[in-house]
Amino acid sequence: IPESSKQMLESHDLLKKFYHHLLVNTKEGQEALEYLLNRGFSIDTIEKFQVGYALDSWDFVFKFLSKRGYSADILEKAGLAIFRERDEKYFDRFRDRIMFPIMDRQGNTIAFSGRALGAGEPKYLNSPETAIFTKSTILYNFHNARPHIRKKEQVILFEGFADCISAVRAGVENAVATMGTSLTDQHIQLIKRNTENVLICYDSDSAGLAAANRASNMLNEAGLHVKAALMPDNLDPDDYIQKYGEKSFVSDVIGSSLTYMAFKLQYLRKGKNVNNEGDRIQYIEEVLKEISHLPNAVERDHYLRQISSEFSLSLDALEKQQRQIFFAER
Ligand code: UTP
Ligand code: MN
Ligand code: MN
Ligand code: MN
Ligand code: MN
Repeated sequence: IPESSKQMLESHDLLKKFYHHLLVNTKEGQEALEYLLNRGFSIDTIEKFQVGYALDSWDFVFKFLSKRGYSADILEKAGLAIFRERDEKYFDRFRDRIMFPIMDRQGNTIAFSGRALGAGEPKYLNSPETAIFTKSTILYNFHNARPHIRKKEQVILFEGFADCISAVRAGVENAVATMGTSLTDQHIQLIKRNTENVLICYDSDSAGLAAANRASNMLNEAGLHVKAALMPDNLDPDDYIQKYGEKSFVSDVIGSSLTYMAFKLQYLRKGKNVNNEGDRIQYIEEVLKEISHLPNAVERDHYLRQISSEFSLSLDALEKQQRQIFFAER
């Protein structure tokens, strides 16, 4: 690898340790530490994920890393410093934030995401794309989760850092997160090399459900076995664990996950009143479309029968229409 990338990796590693030290051992990091402990993070968890704190300073990191021999150019290209044209000065990208280091598959720190302590915007500030960080290829916590994914023959996908971390604390160690971005083909290829079973555990708000729907389509089309776990009241996994505890999360959310088709039926039905003719016809059409995507004939037959009996429709008519949809999409 090029010398500049090597220096970027080194400076990230050094900074990760420094941020972590500031959070756990200093007065300056105390408020951030209390925020995390109040949110249910334990010291063990903070250690395991090497969570840190970036000081409320304009250029502390820039000076810290410059002193250790890293050039301004490298620090800017690494996304750690920002150059301001106006007065030709360098500033730290991350200030007064809780820092989550992002690791690659080998465990090298390649980027950071910094969470505001309060209601600051953006909620999470991320490293930009750099020579060592391409967001679309990275799954948060993959480095720790990989052996567990292989052993359990399943990966569990989360949206956020806190969700993934809380899940691991609850003993769900095959957890990774897409960090808010949509799932990409590169993510899917990475998953596919390690398991063929994916459980989607996104936030149960409308944005999360829509993202879960999209991800389930992509994973299903890639030939993976997909399940989805839902939570009540628009909660996200971390909220759920806070409110109902780890045990309930493991048995009532993870352990009660839905099959791909059961998730689809529930998703398509949301916001529709099937007693209303228009809604009902739309629902049935959307379900037939989903059924036509199922690779297994027995499964297709099962769901066609279910719709047939639920809405008192002839199985024959449903089968015909489903086949029409199937061929129309070829
Ligand atoms: P959410 O908005 O669901 O945040 O975004 P969260 O994970 O529940 O955050 P907490 O619990 O309030 O701390 C899900 C993920 O999207 C990315 C982050 O990876 C976040 O964990 N995100 C969100 C960003 O990158 N930037 C943002 O401003 C917001
Ligand atoms: Mn430590
Ligand atoms: Mn969300
Ligand atoms: Mn969330
Ligand atoms: Mn959350």
